[in-house]
Amino acid sequence: MTTYDASPYLAGNFAPVAEEVTAIDLPVTGSIPPELSGRFLRNGPNPRSVDDLATHHWFFGEGMVHGIRLGDGKARWYRNRYSGTVDAGGPNTSIIGHAGKTLAIVEAGAKPMELDDELNIVGRSDLGGLPSGFTAHPKLDPVTGELHAVCYHWPDQVDKVHYVVVSPEGVVTKSVPITTPTMPMIHDMGLTQTYGAVFDLPVAVDFEMAMGGSPFPLRWFHDYNARIGLVPRAATTEDEVIWCEIDPCFAYHPMNSYDADDGTVVIDICEYDSMFDRDRNGPFRDSKPRLARWTIDPTTAKVQRETLDDAVHEFPRVNDAVNTLPYRYGYTAGGNPETADWFFTTVKRDMTTGSTETRTWGTGVEVGEPIFVAREGATAEDDGWIMVLLYDAARDTSDLVILDATDITGDRVATIELPQRVPHGFHGNWVADR
Ligand SMILES: [Fe+2]
Repeated sequence: MTTYDASPYLAGNFAPVAEEVTAIDLPVTGSIPPELSGRFLRNGPNPRSVDDLATHHWFFGEGMVHGIRLGDGKARWYRNRYSGTVDAGGPNTSIIGHAGKTLAIVEAGAKPMELDDELNIVGRSDLGGLPSGFTAHPKLDPVTGELHAVCYHWPDQVDKVHYVVVSPEGVVTKSVPITTPTMPMIHDMGLTQTYGAVFDLPVAVDFEMAMGGSPFPLRWFHDYNARIGLVPRAATTEDEVIWCEIDPCFAYHPMNSYDADDGTVVIDICEYDSMFDRDRNGPFRDSKPRLARWTIDPTTAKVQRETLDDAVHEFPRVNDAVNTLPYRYGYTAGGNPETADWFFTTVKRDMTTGSTETRTWGTGVEVGEPIFVAREGATAEDDGWIMVLLYDAARDTSDLVILDATDITGDRVATIELPQRVPHGFHGNWVADR
């Protein structure tokens, strides 16, 4: 893959892997908690080929899912499998388990690809009525068991998104079209017990670039009317959306959102100054993501922005049980503000005190999204584990590491050696056995 080194988002551990591998009974250091019975799954782009290094965008390319199966204190297997083809939208963004299905999903693309327990392709699933491809980040409401999502689809829905609700049984129960002035990139959403939040921010399709054949025709628009749409969860039409102007900025991922006691909506989010303005190959070279809080007053439609932490934070996660609710702990991947295009630390933040604990992983070790897995029967919010994928440049391979979430800087609970590296990619989840 040395020919890729000229392209920042294909060099090093951004480069795709060549083989689909199956490995049984992986070497483990430490002990895997026996109650962890299920699969750690991670999706990301793994282009089979790259036509033009200069215009290749990291977000483009066939999806590849990497899976590690745990059970009875053992690491039963590792598998990596393509989750589709690029002409069908290559579902490369995330992977979730819902209603007994494993779904590989992609933003603005084709409908989810259902995979079986060993990551073989079953086929497309529209969950009984998805209006378009699923979003990158359907949000679980732990109170109702529903998924809420903002869906849109290139190129046939360029002036609208849909606010979609999927039942705990995995069937679409609601789909509200919401008109947009152009086709903004909407990667994720906020969700509280009262509102969904639609992010209409200044990254949008440039139709000239699209007509010119650009593989990734999205860019930053100066003077864009940036806004957040609060969609009451009971809304049935877009007339009920409360649009709230916000200073131009960009974000992929909220850490969490909730209704505050005073009626405001709080969204904690990894926020960028700009995106795809100068860097047209990936997300890291325009500005660095910081942790911010957006407080929105639905009665005045005003958004207050506050920086919580200037350090580099991305891939924010919480215990799924506190999604949409006031919460205490957030977990992120931390980076270097000066030089780095990737992440090197795992951070736990106490949102009530603002204190952070930072786990460093050592020279040449790069780390992905921290996935929180609750201990069964846990009462404390952080009683559980953090699972992260590490890439060790010196060994040119990856490990899956399990940390005690109450002590993320302490001894590792377990390290599972993988038979090959897992390229830097997007999102994963722990899918417990049903
Ligand atoms: Fe994402």
